[in-house]
Amino acid sequence: MSSKAVPGGTHESKHKRETWSTRKVFILAAIGSAVGLGNIWRFPYVAYENGGGAFIIPYLVALLFAGIPLLFLDYAVGHKFRGSAPLAYRRLHRRAEGLGWWQVAICFVIAVYYAVIIAWAGMYMIFSFTEAWGDDPEGFFIGQFLQVSENVNIGFDFVPGVLVPLVLVWALVLFVLAAGVQKGIGRANIIFLPLLLVMFLVLVVQALFLPGAADGLDALFTPNWAALADTGVWAAAFGQIFFSLSVAFGIMVTYASYLKRRTDLTGSGYVVAFSNSGFEILAGIGVFAAVGFMAYSAGAPVNEVAGSGGIGLAFIAFPTIISQAPLGALLGVLFFGSLVFAGLTSLISIVEVIISAVQDKLGLRRVPATMAVGLPMALVSILLFPTTTGLNLLDVTDAFVNNFGIMAAAFVAVLLLTYGFRALPMLGGHVNETSSIKLGRGWRIMVGIVAPVVLGYILINELIARIQEGYNEMPAWFVGVFGWGMAGALIVIAFLLSLIPWSSRSAATHPVLDAADTDPKEASR
Ligand code: ALA
Repeated sequence: MSSKAVPGGTHESKHKRETWSTRKVFILAAIGSAVGLGNIWRFPYVAYENGGGAFIIPYLVALLFAGIPLLFLDYAVGHKFRGSAPLAYRRLHRRAEGLGWWQVAICFVIAVYYAVIIAWAGMYMIFSFTEAWGDDPEGFFIGQFLQVSENVNIGFDFVPGVLVPLVLVWALVLFVLAAGVQKGIGRANIIFLPLLLVMFLVLVVQALFLPGAADGLDALFTPNWAALADTGVWAAAFGQIFFSLSVAFGIMVTYASYLKRRTDLTGSGYVVAFSNSGFEILAGIGVFAAVGFMAYSAGAPVNEVAGSGGIGLAFIAFPTIISQAPLGALLGVLFFGSLVFAGLTSLISIVEVIISAVQDKLGLRRVPATMAVGLPMALVSILLFPTTTGLNLLDVTDAFVNNFGIMAAAFVAVLLLTYGFRALPMLGGHVNETSSIKLGRGWRIMVGIVAPVVLGYILINELIARIQEGYNEMPAWFVGVFGWGMAGALIVIAFLLSLIPWSSRSAATHPVLDAADTDPKEASR
């Protein structure tokens, strides 16, 4: 590839790319990104609904055969090409830039609703003191707190109880991001992550001492082996791993681009991946111990009280538990506080993907880039979600951006990198230059064969299911616009963004890449 084709230029710049101060800060930030809402409310119910103890098998397979290999792939692209997702992919190959923008667009959609769930959790932390939901947590959540309209529609009937905390979430996130990679993101993770860990450990211990806790754990861990024959269970495991590890949607490419040259990438990756899964299993234990107590108090079997799923498990089942448990207010503050802290560090990483891309493309400095990205994003989030119609919108965008966004982008990425650009030997070689655990043929087989086959299979099945069954009995027009339409629009927008020329100023903000750094053939020799 000629140097002309490489945005980011050929001249050493006055403004160096920001970096993490140490590898530890990077690891903390990467764990902070991975451990999020996906771990605390999503994992427990996904595991429970998909075979309980038996789910651990597809989960581990997904982690070892796709999650970790793709995490290394993200690291390799970001670290070798030292850029945001669009810049790093563009440096890898001229034609790959759109893939980076696709990931940026996915992050935009995730961020605008992810912030809303953090805002809910913040309010529920306060509600825990007074048990504001009284004896009807479901009626309170749907009717009083969210004021959900009966029609599945889009409207601008704002709910102040959600609007105000949402504005605060955005203000905090943008404040952190404006401060930069090390001073903002690094510091926020240094503060929030230990706090989260302590809060969550206390929560799990408190939950384990509740009467009935053992029944909850039995329900979570008793294997339903028949579930392994269900392809839906395998799809759920892969979906969970991708979202939870923050792979394949630009985050790890971006975070790895801020690493110094000589960094043990694979060693760091294993620490991040196993910390994330450790936290996830811990969350399952904590949440199901509490659900066991709920069943005990209601005199009902665990499966009857655990059925409410995702959002319901956190915002309907947990308030019930808080009302009944000894020291319930403490349990509530710990649980919803954990959701807030875990969510914030993940949201920061999701928005950083977009800021970094805009910074690279337009050659903007940190603060203007944060404002140019953050303010319109916050506005979209604030206009669409804290309304009486926000809940269904959140539900449908979440489902479609995961399946036909993250998973589809991962599928295209592994195909293009393996067969289109034949970049795996070069990327593996780059990782091996500085890493303790080397990537060899096994890694290339997992990225180039296992991942595309499994992802392709899951995507086709999901496509057929959604076309035949629709989504959650929602009106076809609503799913068409905010599900299919949104997922398709991400690809079109990505293509259009890749057509915008790189600012000449962007050349001044990036260090030199020599031929061996940009030419796959050269570097793989
Ligand atoms: N990895 C983040 C989560 O689990 C996005 O919520």
